[in-house]
Amino acid sequence: MHAVKRTILVTGASSGIGRAVARRLLAEGHRVIGVSRDIRKFAHAREGFDALELDLADLAGLPSKIGGLTRHFPNINAAVFCAGIGRFGALEQFSYTQIETLMAVNFTGQAFLARALLPHLKSKARSDLIFIGSEAALKGSRQGAVYCASKFAVRGFTQALREECGKSRLRIALINPGMVRTEFFDSLSFEPGDHQSNYILPEDIAETVSYVLNSRAEIVIDEISLSPLNKVVNFKKNEPPD
Ligand SMILES: NC(=O)c1ccc[n+]([C@@H]2O[C@H](COP(=O)([O-])OP(=O)(O)OC[C@H]3O[C@@H](n4cnc5c(N)ncnc54)[C@H](OP(=O)(O)O)[C@@H]3O)[C@@H](O)[C@H]2O)c1
Repeated sequence: MHAVKRTILVTGASSGIGRAVARRLLAEGHRVIGVSRDIRKFAHAREGFDALELDLADLAGLPSKIGGLTRHFPNINAAVFCAGIGRFGALEQFSYTQIETLMAVNFTGQAFLARALLPHLKSKARSDLIFIGSEAALKGSRQGAVYCASKFAVRGFTQALREECGKSRLRIALINPGMVRTEFFDSLSFEPGDHQSNYILPEDIAETVSYVLNSRAEIVIDEISLSPLNKVVNFKKNEPPD
């Protein structure tokens, strides 16, 4: 059991990385506010868990929904941004709306949330913002123009915000995973290979989040990148992307 109990907002808590993070933090005795577009997904939620319904793609509706967040949850002192969507392909295969939605969910909606939480978090004796970036935040790759742009945006945002908050006790960290075996790949034409050395488990990311949160308050872990030991990609239709 960890000595310091925190109240931590976790986006994407209904699936994959965010669900593993929420479970891990609850098991460590922290309070978790889990975000999903549909809180009925949290029907079997546990002690210490509150659910919050938000659609990060709805940028127009977001400010009014998150404006009162810190009044409603005054003990909130950390957030882990795990919500995100994957869509890959040539730029011309994207509709304008698809570009807008991907950027909203993977970046702008999270920037709105950080904006809403920031004054409150900066007033705390100890607080953390942890973003889930990606290996796509480090290097542009084929079929990834929009996805990489959304993750580069997150990375630039965290670097600049860390500077901006450098006189407070708010720490800002970015975690960049390679392929993690989650529902993320359900709608994609590829997935990590089957061997356990071909993927990261969502629990590995949860452990990394826990390490960052529980690190000594006087240090900042800027960024952690992690990858599967052996990178193997399976193409579901038996054909590589063109
Ligand atoms: N899996 C990987 O290989 C991998 C690698 C590197 C980085 N990442 C990043 O890790 C993050 C989590 O991915 P994952 O693998 O855990 O994917 P996942 O299992 O598909 O989970 C995605 C989560 O995002 C939430 N979400 C999607 N659209 C949303 C919206 N409009 N508003 C609010 N929440 C929304 C979903 O919640 P609801 O559907 O309940 O709203 C869900 O909980 C993403 O940012 C992804 O880019 C993943």
